Amino acid sequence: RSRFEAERGRTFAMIKPDAYNHIGKIVDRILEAGFRISNIRMVRFSTENARQFYAEHAGKPFYDGLVGFMSSDVVVGMELVAVDAVPKWRSLMGPTNSNTARNDAPTSIRATFGTDGQRNATHGSDSPASANREINFFFSIPSNTAALNNCTCCVI
Ligand code: TYD
Ligand code: MG
Repeated sequence: RSRFEAERGRTFAMIKPDAYNHIGKIVDRILEAGFRISNIRMVRFSTENARQFYAEHAGKPFYDGLVGFMSSDVVVGMELVAVDAVPKWRSLMGPTNSNTARNDAPTSIRATFGTDGQRNATHGSDSPASANREINFFFSIPSNTAALNNCTCCVI
């Protein structure tokens, strides 16, 4: 096995509802950083989807707000492949809080496209085990974006 094969891994990345207008720019940054996108999908989380995705944070003071935010509009989920994919993507995103990111990692994705400690533009897995769980969860959600195509503003 080559060195690359030995260390290559995958992570789960997600563009959150607040970054809808920046989807293209964020995907560009992911590709420019050398990730391979091996799967990509748009869904809108139900409240229950968001509660399950963030189950590790259940009971924390920010949980209900996080669940409401994450189910407020569509998200884009991606399976990313690279050497050391989990820490590589977390480094590209920057610190959790976008205000902290603007101080400590001003060119990071969360510094550039996020707002604060909740609306921070992107998600990234914290370990290979989390990546497996999140990828399996996300890509198993039943398709649910069709209804969004029926807005009257787009009907001619
Ligand atoms: P966490 O897993 O701690 O951060 P990360 O996304 O960097 O792994 O928290 C999950 C999300 O919860 C985080 O991206 C934004 C939200 N959140 C809040 O709204 N308030 C908070 O105080 C924290 C810590 C997180
Ligand atoms: Mg986390």
